[in-house]
Amino acid sequence: MSIRVHIDGRICLPEDAKVSVFDRGFLYGDSVYETIATVHGRLFAAGEHLDRLERSAQRLGLRLPPRAEIEGAIAQTITAAGNAESRVRVVVTRGAGLFDLDPASADDPRLVIIVQPRGGPTPEMYANGVSVEIVSVTRNLPGAIDPAVKSGNYLNNVLALGEARRRSGAYEAILCAANGSVAEGSSSNVFALIAGQLRTPALQVGILAGVTRDKVLRLARGLSIPCDEVAFLGPDELRGADEIFLTSAVRGILPVTTVNGAQVGHGKPGPITRRLTDAYRALAHETT
Ligand code: PDD
Repeated sequence: MSIRVHIDGRICLPEDAKVSVFDRGFLYGDSVYETIATVHGRLFAAGEHLDRLERSAQRLGLRLPPRAEIEGAIAQTITAAGNAESRVRVVVTRGAGLFDLDPASADDPRLVIIVQPRGGPTPEMYANGVSVEIVSVTRNLPGAIDPAVKSGNYLNNVLALGEARRRSGAYEAILCAANGSVAEGSSSNVFALIAGQLRTPALQVGILAGVTRDKVLRLARGLSIPCDEVAFLGPDELRGADEIFLTSAVRGILPVTTVNGAQVGHGKPGPITRRLTDAYRALAHETT
């Protein structure tokens, strides 16, 4: 079980991995990132994650190193860390610059890759489900820091998770958009089974287009599970759902059995959640 960091072109131990205090990632959260997991020791959906990294960078006008360089650095760092399963964080900052907000004042992007053991939820969490808390912190407006961009500026999400943990020790925070619709978790997308239909907030609500979310939607359609990306999902609808689950690269599909202290459905992961979990695991098994 080890952690290795690829920084400024070399691989080092965590204690030697340092960035300049003038790096704009440190000063302003002026960076983009992705978290990719391995399954059976191989990267799962790396192409989709690196595509999203490119889209995020494009939106911020941030120049990325060539894709082959990023892919090579990821592979080398995974090998150097030598874990059975890895969590890979790919970060590209706009680099160091003078104290000048103007993004044009820095044009030497810094690539950092952190590889650590995959970790993630325990078998008990998958078996029993986790708790979430719908918090008062609002998801960023798409016209401000667009949630579709996976930038290093995560303070909004940090505050949301802090509120959930303080209030009830909940595992994940659920943020609503400014119009009151449920949006997503602090680091996950959310699905709910309501009146026999699987619903998840549509991208227009102002969320991250999760790679796992997209795969789950395709799986649900393939399994003829009625599903819809909805323009509005009320917090009361979520609270009354028969099943709820979260999705993200490291977690896959994680059942939710408590919302704001109230039990979801029968208090156990439901049949649709279990069916999709099996299908998702099979997909990951096949494609890695
Ligand atoms: N987060 N929504 C937000 C706000 C996220 O940060 C993430 C992922 C997701 C799920 O996206 P995906 O299925 O592509 O992993 C949704 C990762 C885990 C992170 O912050 O490290």
